[in-house]
Amino acid sequence: MRIYRAKDYADLSRKTAQIIAAQIIMKPDCVLGLATGSSPVGAYENLVKWYEEGALDFSAVTTVNLDEYRGLPRENAQSYDYFMQEHLFGKVNIDRSRTFLPDGMTQDDEQECRRYEEIIRSVGGVDLQLLGMGHNGHIGFNEPGSCFEKKTRCVDLAESTIRANRRFFASEEEVPRQAYTVGIGTILAARRILLIVSGKEKAGILNQALFGPITPEVPASILQFHGDVTVVADEAALSCSELK
Ligand code: GLP
Repeated sequence: MRIYRAKDYADLSRKTAQIIAAQIIMKPDCVLGLATGSSPVGAYENLVKWYEEGALDFSAVTTVNLDEYRGLPRENAQSYDYFMQEHLFGKVNIDRSRTFLPDGMTQDDEQECRRYEEIIRSVGGVDLQLLGMGHNGHIGFNEPGSCFEKKTRCVDLAESTIRANRRFFASEEEVPRQAYTVGIGTILAARRILLIVSGKEKAGILNQALFGPITPEVPASILQFHGDVTVVADEAALSCSELK
């Protein structure tokens, strides 16, 4: 596991975008596993800027996102599909037919999960998986629990996640209670993983994830088992970790 200390969020965003850009330059037809939430917004801004400057070409890139709320149509401003369109897809030359997210409006959730796993398989798996981390250590929407769930599935969101994501919605009642998420096994199958964490409120849980026991209670701790993980965290997020 490589851990890069960023000075602040701007520095973290630049470093993260540089790693993603390097992946695209080295393999123009790569498969990126992408994340939503506030953590990657700055990285996406950098990628858009470099695309506009002619330094990056997304035309051959495929993307698969980690998760999507259940019950929100893609036109809903809080859906992750909408988020990706706003922050990245709508601003670069990516082929929208090669950007994948779970469909939050499907009636048959088991079929949707199978369909999504099949998409990931058919594109050849993920070259670089970008991950944020929730305040309770969740990755994707793999919430703390009694076991590590492997496959894509529909999950009930933890109360703490509903509260944390409340800030994006007009009221707490509007926050969806369920979401589709790729599983821990799907995440670990990515060839490279890039975890980004910002802010002192995540310092304790980041320290547990990186250096504590590997436990389903801290889903991100499973990343200790992966052979190619890069962590980019700012000084605030690393303030509980004893790094030399
Ligand atoms: C959300 C998403 C995750 C994200 C995490 C952290 O609920 N499902 O994929 O990484 O929570 O979000 P943020 O970056 O806004 O703290």
